[in-house]
Amino acid sequence: MNTHSRVKGFYKLSVAERVKWIAANACLTEEEVQKLSGGLSMDVADSMVENVIGQIGTPLGLAANFKVNGKDVFIPMATEEPSVIAAASNAAKAAYDLGGIYTFSTGTIMRGQIQVLDICDPYAARARVYEHKEEIMEQCNLKDPTLVALGGGVKDIEVHLVNTVRETMLVIHLIVDTKDAMGANAVNTMAECVSPLIEKVTGGRVVLRIISNLADKRLVRARGVFSSELLGGGEIVKNIISAFEFADADPYRAATHNKGVMNGMTAVVLATGNDTRAVEAGAHAYASRTGKYRSLTTWELNKDGNLVGTLEVPMAVGIIGGATKTNPVAKIALKIMDVKTAEELAGMIAAVGLAENLASLRALSAEGIQTGHMRLHAKNLAIMAGAKGDLIEQVVQRATEEKDFRYSRILEITNSLKRGEDVVDGASE
Ligand code: MEV
Repeated sequence: MNTHSRVKGFYKLSVAERVKWIAANACLTEEEVQKLSGGLSMDVADSMVENVIGQIGTPLGLAANFKVNGKDVFIPMATEEPSVIAAASNAAKAAYDLGGIYTFSTGTIMRGQIQVLDICDPYAARARVYEHKEEIMEQCNLKDPTLVALGGGVKDIEVHLVNTVRETMLVIHLIVDTKDAMGANAVNTMAECVSPLIEKVTGGRVVLRIISNLADKRLVRARGVFSSELLGGGEIVKNIISAFEFADADPYRAATHNKGVMNGMTAVVLATGNDTRAVEAGAHAYASRTGKYRSLTTWELNKDGNLVGTLEVPMAVGIIGGATKTNPVAKIALKIMDVKTAEELAGMIAAVGLAENLASLRALSAEGIQTGHMRLHAKNLAIMAGAKGDLIEQVVQRATEEKDFRYSRILEITNSLKRGEDVVDGASE
């Protein structure tokens, strides 16, 4: 998309106006526009999972104000949680004029694990596996010539000795470049096909053969400079930094802090038909890599007094295969972002994770998160009470000033404003 991602008042447009806008800017066809509201057909749903009886909708919104690696982009997010999309958009705005968010990916390498038991000479068995490395890799790569033709396939082998309560297991890692696929199918197929050879070489018994979700060779890094002024100034920024320090030192806080990161990342992962659980498992395992569960992000001041944030996280996502292919809305989401590679998609997801974390820390460091939540709640109640157009915001504003979000009060405010009357002060609870 070559449009500016800062569209003033995008959130004020109606759904139909937003769809029209993005259709024009991302060149969506009429059919794609229909699919945005249509979701999956029952046939497609039935082909995806078992015992289908229906589907459950999740709203799909667009995060605005993102500039990622110099490119303006609207980022589709699927989430049931209010405020998440608005929060990411607001935080992204604070980085926009300072260059936006930059991302870097370490590649598209996944690990497949093969567990070998009942080995009497684990050290020698490890040596034998390394001696047969070329043969093992060749056998794996024969299983996926398409991936190999694209430059992917098994690139290396690692042999780990894992001491468990009862024995030393040999765990062979297939180091596989899965390119633009998430890679679980390719990796698992290779791990299964090569097992007889592994048993022959090691003299052991292979049991588990499965991808590892701790994708530490498929990291994405995001970095952004955020205007301290736009975030509310020195005091708030100081609080944001100590909020990060708190999370980094205390696992109880880190879990919630990282949950905020995942609010953003999971929404993009879901919108693009990727495996949310794989990304979440990888993120939390990576957050514990030092032996202690810590913050996935860092926040500090730069020499200009602006806030600099970084995020580093495994990101096993693809743009081909799986639900990215079967779910028509996921395909549209990828089209809107105009991503051409899995690494580019990983960067977008990380950028949203970083912005989302900042938005949470900013709200927590200043007014608290309930104000934003209550405004959204008030908006829903105002609509229920019959407010339309600009009146909705007026009702929300008044309810927020009064800090009164009861439906009965919102109905009174709506009715008074509709009649063009002054709003009489409400009775306090
Ligand atoms: C709520 O969904 C997410 C937050 O709790 C994250 C955080 O505490 O940093 C606001």
